[in-house]
Amino acid sequence: MPVNPADRETIDRLVKERDAVILAHYYCLPEIQAVAHFVGDSLGLSQEAAKNPARVIVFCGVHFMAETASILCPEKTVLLANPEAGCPMADMVTPEDLVKRKAEEPGVPVLTYVNSSAQVKALSDICCTSANVATVLRSLPSTKVLMTPDRNLAQFAQTLVPEKEVLLWPGFCPTHHRLNLEEILELKRSHPQAEVIAHPECQPKILAEAHFIGSTSGLIKHCAQSDQGEFIILTESGVIYPLTKANPDKKFYQPRTPMICPNMKKNRVQDIISALTTMTPVIKVPEEIRRPALIAVERMLAIPRDQ
Ligand code: 13P
Ligand code: SF4
Repeated sequence: MPVNPADRETIDRLVKERDAVILAHYYCLPEIQAVAHFVGDSLGLSQEAAKNPARVIVFCGVHFMAETASILCPEKTVLLANPEAGCPMADMVTPEDLVKRKAEEPGVPVLTYVNSSAQVKALSDICCTSANVATVLRSLPSTKVLMTPDRNLAQFAQTLVPEKEVLLWPGFCPTHHRLNLEEILELKRSHPQAEVIAHPECQPKILAEAHFIGSTSGLIKHCAQSDQGEFIILTESGVIYPLTKANPDKKFYQPRTPMICPNMKKNRVQDIISALTTMTPVIKVPEEIRRPALIAVERMLAIPRDQ
């Protein structure tokens, strides 16, 4: 849906008045990506939040992303466009359960996907995203590593870094995990020339069918650089907007069962206007949680991207 010119004008005016920047994830609706000043994957959004000079950050994404911005920039006001936008995978690891699991594995470092609460990050040694998981895992001095909460990402990382022993946590992303193998095989039969590109939140049996696996930014970059003209895209449907915009002559196919993250789609243009008008809802991580969580996030940011 194109952005209403009056809404765009209101947003531009409020952005100036509030000294704000709008950050959006690639899984947000096209109109949200169109009004955002920066669109990225989880790692890119954290990096941008940390370096952008604006006083106010309006986050169009899910709760853990706004929390990460608050962890990195305590002096800024971080607004989450829609406070109802959570991440079911992040909810699959609670601080209480992680404390129990750590007690069972004394001395084993905890590597936590940024798709997690600030409290869980505070209990972790280091964070990762889908864009740097292999390099982060390799950087750890211990052979055994406990990875939370995404078991699919952990199993993918294990294939890239076989010298480590990765202990799994039983979490997953419902949007990626539900992909049906038969549907993918059928899609491959219908488009035999197409390159299959997948996000590592998919199950191993799906990743086994992929020619390229990467974070949302990694997938978008790969499609732009590849000589291929057709792609089967196995990640959330929001990436189709930047893919078709950047590659108008290339064809992108998605599974028949839509891959939609209902939480990312909760962010609407009116939510941005409301957040900038009322300066709510503010996401602020309490200092006693922020300080240990910052250590885990900063350790991750010191490590380069895999792709
Ligand atoms: P990336 O942004 O790391 O590609 O992860 C996708 C995702 O599920 C974000 O919630
Ligand atoms: Fe969470 Fe999956 Fe949605 Fe990302 S796509 S926010 S991991 S539910």
